[in-house]
Amino acid sequence: MMIRQSFPLGQVLLLALALAAATTKRQQQLNVEQLRQLGLGNIINLPNYTDLPRGSYDFIVVGAGAAGCTLAARLSENPNWTVYLIEAGGVENLMHMIPVLAPMLQLTASNWNYKSQPQRLACRGMNNHECALPRGKGLGGTSSINFMIYNRGNRRDFDAWAERGNHGWSYDEVLPYFLRSESAQLQGLEHSPYHNHSGPLSVEDVRYRSSLAHAYVRAAQQAGHSRTDYNGESQLGVSYVQANTLKGRRHSAFSAYIEPVRPLRKNLHILTMARVTRVLIDESTKSAIGVELLHGRRRFEVRARKEVILSAGAFNSPQLLMLSGIGPEDNLRAIGLPVVQALPVGKLLYDHMCHFGPTFVTNTTGQTIFASSLTLPALKDFLLGRADTRLSSIGGVETLTFIKIPAAQTPHDQPDIELIQVAGSLASDDGTGLTHGANFKNEIYEKMYRHLAWHHQDHFTFLVMQFKPQSVGRLWLHTRNPLEWPRIDPKYFTVEEDVEQLLEGIKEAIRITQMPALQSLGTRLLDRPVPGCEDQRFGSDDYWRCSIRTMSYTLHHQVATCRMGPATDPTAVVSPELKVHGMRKLRVVDTSVIPLPPTAHTNAAAFMIGEKAADLIRAAWL
Ligand SMILES: Cc1cc2nc3c(=O)[nH]c(=O)nc-3n(C[C@H](O)[C@H](O)[C@H](O)COP(=O)(O)OP(=O)(O)OC[C@H]3O[C@@H](n4cnc5c(N)ncnc54)[C@H](O)[C@@H]3O)c2cc1C
Ligand SMILES: *[C@@H]1O[C@H](CO)[C@@H](O)[C@H](O)[C@H]1NC(C)=O
Ligand SMILES: *[C@@H]1O[C@H](CO)[C@@H](O)[C@H](O)[C@H]1NC(C)=O
Ligand SMILES: *[C@@H]1O[C@H](CO)[C@@H](O)[C@H](O)[C@H]1NC(C)=O
Ligand SMILES: *[C@@H]1O[C@H](CO)[C@@H](O)[C@H](O)[C@H]1NC(C)=O
Repeated sequence: MMIRQSFPLGQVLLLALALAAATTKRQQQLNVEQLRQLGLGNIINLPNYTDLPRGSYDFIVVGAGAAGCTLAARLSENPNWTVYLIEAGGVENLMHMIPVLAPMLQLTASNWNYKSQPQRLACRGMNNHECALPRGKGLGGTSSINFMIYNRGNRRDFDAWAERGNHGWSYDEVLPYFLRSESAQLQGLEHSPYHNHSGPLSVEDVRYRSSLAHAYVRAAQQAGHSRTDYNGESQLGVSYVQANTLKGRRHSAFSAYIEPVRPLRKNLHILTMARVTRVLIDESTKSAIGVELLHGRRRFEVRARKEVILSAGAFNSPQLLMLSGIGPEDNLRAIGLPVVQALPVGKLLYDHMCHFGPTFVTNTTGQTIFASSLTLPALKDFLLGRADTRLSSIGGVETLTFIKIPAAQTPHDQPDIELIQVAGSLASDDGTGLTHGANFKNEIYEKMYRHLAWHHQDHFTFLVMQFKPQSVGRLWLHTRNPLEWPRIDPKYFTVEEDVEQLLEGIKEAIRITQMPALQSLGTRLLDRPVPGCEDQRFGSDDYWRCSIRTMSYTLHHQVATCRMGPATDPTAVVSPELKVHGMRKLRVVDTSVIPLPPTAHTNAAAFMIGEKAADLIRAAWL
């Protein structure tokens, strides 16, 4: 038996920090700019993000996440406007910069750490049937802890927004905003009209690729899926993943939009570790006039001369609206808050629920991400600027395949399922970050994955994701205490059809692994049964149905809690200009406004929404 060589990740991190400190101290005298270019600027040169409130500002942006950073950076381009960006968390550190550590960030203070209500028909493999619902907390928001997959969506997604009365949001109208944010370095796509090369947000190929990824891409082609750019003309097919990294380091909303301009913008004030508790409202005019916040032990009121903009994300923006008396009447009454404006806040919640697996073992060696991949030499190479070490792997995600389910009723050019191929599993970090981050029961790791870590057995896993679930959840408040969590019930898999679509996706993943390119590596299904599904015949349809309801793993694409729609839409919270219906000087600018589940991951859309909101606000005030 092999001796287990992986050393504890915590230790690796401490070493990393020590090494970073040593490296940076030496080099600081030599060339600070050089280090900034390596993506390590935050660590050596912690700037001051503690601008206490000073009277009033033109714009107050609540939440420095993907959309909030984008918006604050664009609004403060106008030197005549003062912008106050308020963030509940702190500042990124070296750990955020290292893409392979993405899953570990869910164990840190950078995660709000929400859990769902116990699920009846999903998340049976999670403790108490509660799915983990992580969200980023800190400058950069969820873009600082996510998996960095860059993916915009299908033309039909945005055209459907527009058809619902959201003028200005069709694909042709939003594509310029995706492009405005993007700075692409993608091999073979240098001349694609779907990519820009001079925006703030870096989009790159992941420079480290395992041989499993290459074999998988060939196998997918052998199975009939052509190579494509899933952000280009046609999503359908197989692609190597495009990532929000810069030279192999995480490029968050903060590092892309705020950090480079911060020293130049005297009119952009930023306060971290500050929790906004409600919007201050002049009830006679129904106008937002500022916000109340807690910072340390102090309570502040800050005024906005022009607008208050909530960019607190899909859980916290609806929470803040409700804490301010804007929401469903019955919910507000139940917690004793006077109703300022009745709106269906939180009544809808869509998400992308996946199946974690199947996992396949291979006869290769050294291709799967294990904690022991994080060797000191690799770390040193990374810190010295190399972008092609395993540390630049985005949590092991290597390729995406967008496929159609024959039985689905969707148009021919609209994918139904995404296969996310990952060179790892719960074994990659020895049952730590991914297992605990997702709230998996320990027995899932112990019975299915532990032996893979022990033997350093090469393997890869699919996350099978459904784009257009019919199951719809909701969010509400059970207390008026602003420091408590909102209650979140995504109601995953309450519609049977969602399970059937994932089953089709699993079957297609298995079919691809039977192609010669993967068979020549000895690829075979990991046949340890999912705990709780042992009484089903392994590999039968009913086995997979059980597995889907057990190994339920969300990719955290929650949307529609502050749904965008015209005033005539009874489900709408904000207008197509992102203004809260019935209110003045108050907008919501983040993924909570997305009206329908997209054919994509949601981070790119958050940047697009931030860019477009900046134009809408400029148009309103200039
Ligand atoms: C673990 C994980 C992995 C993911 N992986 C991917 C991926 O690979 N690709 C992808 O496209 N999408 C991914 N997503 C989803 C994507 O990152 C998010 O949808 C997107 O970043 C959300 O952007 P946002 O601007 O709407 O909100 P956020 O980025 O969440 O920003 C909200 C900000 O507001 C702050 N805030 C909240 N409440 C308050 C308050 N009361 N006072 C002050 N500040 C407050 C928060 O701390 C946060 O900084 C992932 C999500 C998670 C959780
Ligand atoms: C940071 O800014 C605050 C308020 O602007 C100021 O009081 C404080 O002294 C600054 N700290 C540093 C280290 O510059
Ligand atoms: C800022 O204000 C000045 C003086 O009123 C004006 O000339 C200038 O055009 C303004 N700049 C912008 C970008 O609006
Ligand atoms: C690329 O991005 C820059 C900066 O945001 C923008 O000025 C330019 O218009 C964009 N180009 C295209 C083709 O969208
Ligand atoms: C892979 O390894 C297994 C077990 O050792 C062996 O039976 C099989 O022939 C190998 N397959 C290939 C294609 O090398």
